[in-house]
Amino acid sequence: MRQWWRDAVLYQVYPRSFADADGDGTGDIAGITSRLDHVADLGVDGIWLSPFYTSPWADGGYDVADFRDVDPRLGTLADFDAMVAAAHARDLRVMVDIVPNHTSHEHPWFRAALAAPPGSPERDLYVFRDGRGEHGELPPTNWLSAFGGPAWSRVADGQWYLHLFAPEQPDLNWDDERVREEFRDILRFWSGRGVDGFRIDVASALVKDLREPLRDLVLVEGGRVEDVGANPDHPFLDRPEVHEVYRDWRRVLAEFDPPRATVGEVWLPGERRVLYTRPDELDQVFNFDFLRAEWDADAYRGVIDSSLADAARVGTVPTWVIGNHDVVRPVSVLGLPRGTDQEAWLLGDGGDPKADLELGTRRARALALLELALPGSAYVYQGEELGLPEVADIPAEALEDPRWERSGHTDKGRDGCRVPLPWTVAGPSFGFNANGAAPWLPQPEEWGRWSVEAQAADPGSVLHLYRRALAQRRRFRADETLTWDDSLNRGPLLAFRRGADVLVLVNTGEESLGLPDGEVLVASAELDGALPGSAAVWLRQA
Ligand code: GLC
Repeated sequence: MRQWWRDAVLYQVYPRSFADADGDGTGDIAGITSRLDHVADLGVDGIWLSPFYTSPWADGGYDVADFRDVDPRLGTLADFDAMVAAAHARDLRVMVDIVPNHTSHEHPWFRAALAAPPGSPERDLYVFRDGRGEHGELPPTNWLSAFGGPAWSRVADGQWYLHLFAPEQPDLNWDDERVREEFRDILRFWSGRGVDGFRIDVASALVKDLREPLRDLVLVEGGRVEDVGANPDHPFLDRPEVHEVYRDWRRVLAEFDPPRATVGEVWLPGERRVLYTRPDELDQVFNFDFLRAEWDADAYRGVIDSSLADAARVGTVPTWVIGNHDVVRPVSVLGLPRGTDQEAWLLGDGGDPKADLELGTRRARALALLELALPGSAYVYQGEELGLPEVADIPAEALEDPRWERSGHTDKGRDGCRVPLPWTVAGPSFGFNANGAAPWLPQPEEWGRWSVEAQAADPGSVLHLYRRALAQRRRFRADETLTWDDSLNRGPLLAFRRGADVLVLVNTGEESLGLPDGEVLVASAELDGALPGSAAVWLRQA
């Protein structure tokens, strides 16, 4: 039987920012249940939930203190079960995030490790080491945290522990069989509760080269440390041994019927990324090359061809993403001058220079039609279906992303794409909750303009565009091939055929281009006999 995920569209829910049923300013599981009709009406195949587990929220829930429970601020396991049942009743699959690289510092294992002496079995669940220098006052290696600063923190007795992210996220030791057994059990726990699959956080970093002495990263140009692209034998990224973890997981997930699906977060070049989707490993990996591509026909052609070729080498199909909870919203990215340094842009007062949202929205609409036309599966991050822009002017005191503090205020972080959704045109929280309690991140004054309510009433809205595209996608979604139309596909015009009779055209230039004959299935802009600049169309040709 064909695996359901091969052509599925999954909608990413960031639970804290989706819908707040209990009116405490933070989204919750019951809120998700209450808004499932919005998701079902879009026409997607399922949802992927970012972490909702018990957590002190040092990293918005990617710091898990109990992998088998719901954070009390988000609800209960009973709420979770009700949400899964309500999703399944609407034919929506449910994928959950699993965070195997690290725990929260409040996880019982880490508390026990702190209470235990150096060299103890408790400490062996993590990566504790003595420091360098005469008195051990220097970190064991020069490894850096992804959020800024060293990847090591010192504890009271003088030892150091590894954290590739925040200090509140100690890395687990995947050389220890107890860690492996724990995650098999966590996978079984949620699979048994009926989840259909897992998104695997930081999937390529679990296994480290912990042979003594630990190796420093080599400094490359500009004093930056080497990245994985420069080093096939990196001490903690993309180690060959990590693949064995996913072979093992595949056997665990095959205990369930149907086998539970997996998608890995793997920020690696294509040829190394797809190795994670060999037939005995994960089902899918996110294809971040597409997200990173510039608004340019040649760039898209290149990424589409290489993504299809890479996936074909291991017998699978690519995934396509244009955003998620970690990156600047596509409407804003596409409205910025080419090559803008996004971190620097966010630091400018309120995102300065301003992104051209009119242009960015036209391009994002066209990009959505490109994304949803491609063979394989797609992931839509909540708010993309509303064309939400990045909120660039969140006041510094409201920022929660650890990157802000860890970077010494040189990186504003990811809160601008995590602002709670606007459901209604008016009201103090734009329908995010019923009582108007202040959302955990402030919403812009004009947020109601992008609300589901406003867009549902406007046939020309981004919301209606997504609904139409997702409905029309059914014509060709099962087809895993794309055929470039060589007579049209050149310059700023991308042109390819899908299924029996669909021609997809994307104009990345600003000049209007001639429009071939055909029935318009969905268009990102008014056509008027031509295909305007920064627009896309799906045509049915007899
Ligand atoms: C992943 C998540 C990100 C998180 C990090 C650490 O990259 O997507 O949000 O901060 O892992 O868990």
